[in-house]
Amino acid sequence: MSFQIVGTGRAHPALVLTNEMVSEIVDTTDEWITSRTGIKTRYVSTTETLLDLAVEASKKALASAGIESKDLDMIICSTIKGDYVTPSMACLIQRDIEAKCPSFDFNAACSGFVYGLDMADAYIRAGKAETILLVSAEAMTRHIDWTDRATCVLFGDGAGAVVLKKGDGLRSIKITAKGDDKLLVIGSVFSPSPFAKQPQIDPAFRMNGGEVFKFAVSSVIKDVKQVMKEAGVEAKDIAMMVPHQANLRVFQAARDKLGFTDEQIANGIDHYGNTSSASIPLLLDELMEQGRLVKGDLIVLTAFGGGLTTGACVIKL
Ligand SMILES: CC(C)(COP(=O)(O)OP(=O)(O)OC[C@H]1O[C@@H](n2cnc3c(N)ncnc32)[C@H](O)[C@@H]1OP(=O)(O)O)[C@@H](O)C(=O)NCCC(=O)NCCS
Repeated sequence: MSFQIVGTGRAHPALVLTNEMVSEIVDTTDEWITSRTGIKTRYVSTTETLLDLAVEASKKALASAGIESKDLDMIICSTIKGDYVTPSMACLIQRDIEAKCPSFDFNAACSGFVYGLDMADAYIRAGKAETILLVSAEAMTRHIDWTDRATCVLFGDGAGAVVLKKGDGLRSIKITAKGDDKLLVIGSVFSPSPFAKQPQIDPAFRMNGGEVFKFAVSSVIKDVKQVMKEAGVEAKDIAMMVPHQANLRVFQAARDKLGFTDEQIANGIDHYGNTSSASIPLLLDELMEQGRLVKGDLIVLTAFGGGLTTGACVIKL
């Protein structure tokens, strides 16, 4: 027995940054960004902390599940970097929603939501938890070099959350990692030590976009084929594939190889940009709210990102 998704929630900052606004910061155009990525606008944090977004998404997910925070057995938060190194985001979410359970963060970059589902599956199968809050919260715009037009146009901020309860919704799942610090990196800023001799690492997001694009397309095709085979389902059985929202052209390149129609591929990149691990649960909640996904639908989730990591799964809602 694995899990069933019983509640979803999302939150994003108030400021909508349009492509025209970005073109006042760097040398770019709405036409370039839209045609290369599918992004039109993204949400950018101003006064909101990442914790504000994570707590709002968590409260909404609990409300939609009809579950009280005291009934949670665990809170897992995926984030590239929380508001603090410690305490973790999950511990502060636990405080703010008045839960009592063990809580921790982890980092699997943009694949974090699927990694989190895999972790929740393991805890539930082991009998160590029955009700888990999984939150993916990312403030990508803090990690961007706002003078680098190749990357600053891509990202937005947000948080998505799901409540998972013991059940038989998960049909198959896989996660992968292939260690690499050349294609996609975000450095750390360290407090200066009088003993440190290492060079300071560049703290900004750096990416070889072309190579990451190829990695993304090939891993989506491979992972999705594998999880669909393991689940014993075909493209016609799937209500929607909800991919990590990194680039519209990645989904389009994978679509034909997987036998999906355009209508079967969820697209929220136009208004969210790339929100790293938050992108799948943000969009999932939006699709559920709009009634475009309903209980009983079979969905495929697929993600890829820094690490390099990937993950995919088939779930019956
Ligand atoms: C980043 C990405 C959109 C770039 O698109 P691309 O088609 O590969 O574009 P390139 O990097 O080859 O650049 C093409 C040209 O556009 C220019 N360019 C780059 N960013 C630009 C911008 N924002 N506005 C205008 N021109 C831009 C480049 O300078 C280059 O010009 P040149 O040909 O004169 O040298 C694309 O590679 C991508 O999405 N990769 C995958 C990234 C991804 O999925 N990351 C998330 C992992 S979680």
